[in-house]
Amino acid sequence: KQQQLRFDGRVVIVTGAGAGLGRAYALLFGSRGASVVVNDLGGSRDGDGKSTKAADSVVAEIRARGGKAVPDYNSVVDGEKLVQTALENFGRIDVVVNNAGILRDKSFARISDQDWDLVHNVHLKGAFKVTQAAWPHMKKQNYGRIIMTSSNSGLYGNFGQANYSAAKMGLVGLANTLAIEGRKNNIYTNVIVPTAASRLTEDILPPDFFAELRPELIAPVVVWLCHESCEDNGAIIESAAGWATKCHLVRGAGTPLRVRITDNVAPEDVQNQWNKVTDMSRAQRHESIEEVSSTLLGILEDMKSGGTSSSSSGEVESVF
Ligand code: NAI
Repeated sequence: KQQQLRFDGRVVIVTGAGAGLGRAYALLFGSRGASVVVNDLGGSRDGDGKSTKAADSVVAEIRARGGKAVPDYNSVVDGEKLVQTALENFGRIDVVVNNAGILRDKSFARISDQDWDLVHNVHLKGAFKVTQAAWPHMKKQNYGRIIMTSSNSGLYGNFGQANYSAAKMGLVGLANTLAIEGRKNNIYTNVIVPTAASRLTEDILPPDFFAELRPELIAPVVVWLCHESCEDNGAIIESAAGWATKCHLVRGAGTPLRVRITDNVAPEDVQNQWNKVTDMSRAQRHESIEEVSSTLLGILEDMKSGGTSSSSSGEVESVF
């Protein structure tokens, strides 16, 4: 029989764990032996107000099922306080699930500075602050698991969510670099892209669909990503309705816009090559910035030899 994935002795912070997805994550971690810091500011959907109720009720649920949990009522922008709560109560920090979120949807022309700043503060700065406060402890113990929460609104855009989309894509960028900086210390950072029924989506998702999108169906994916036996680092994982997949950015094969290294490029050259520039039929995933840079070196070598030899990727051909 397969062994249960356990978190005994591990300390987990789930931000925004008083409701929705965060609550489902916290309950599952709690049932698998983790000591859980249930963080929630307890404010409204648009970020106003605060209350201890949200965090307290989830802590009570975890304890009622025999789990270990403490509440934390701070805003994620005070990240060091959340980590302090973990250290004071449980003596360490192993896992940070950055999940807290608010919405201030407006069409782009109507977004105020406040709508922009509040959304960026909670999602992007909050994840930065909590993760940075946990980072030195994870480095020292040579172990850590971090989750960033992005959104299809970030990956694809969504009408009325310019502020939110920007912050959510920012979290992908943050995770990309943390995956690189944390690797040698066994600190893995991954991104979850959820779709779930919650107060954030109750007036956005169609009602029939809504009922099927239980947060409990996504929690197992996040919990697995945070387990020590999960080797993924820097992955973007989309999940909803008991389904999950990995997502990638891809790049087309590209095309030279000039033949020789001494040639210039005119706007008309771009126009003439546009079909090839935008052709995604041979699109590929690249693993790193080094890999992308090295393909550029190959392309330059080709231009130096007048476009006659093939590039390192073997894909660039002279088209002039
Ligand atoms: P939710 O509103 O049920 O839960 C978010 C929780 O974060 C709330 O309990 C709220 O009090 C808390 N929170 C807000 N600001 C906070 C702050 N400054 N500090 C601490 N806690 C704070 O929403 P849901 O749907 O569970 O969202 C969780 C995360 O998933 C969010 O980051 C959201 O953007 C993201 N997401 C959700 C999707 C969905 O379909 N529900 C889709 C894509 C992303």
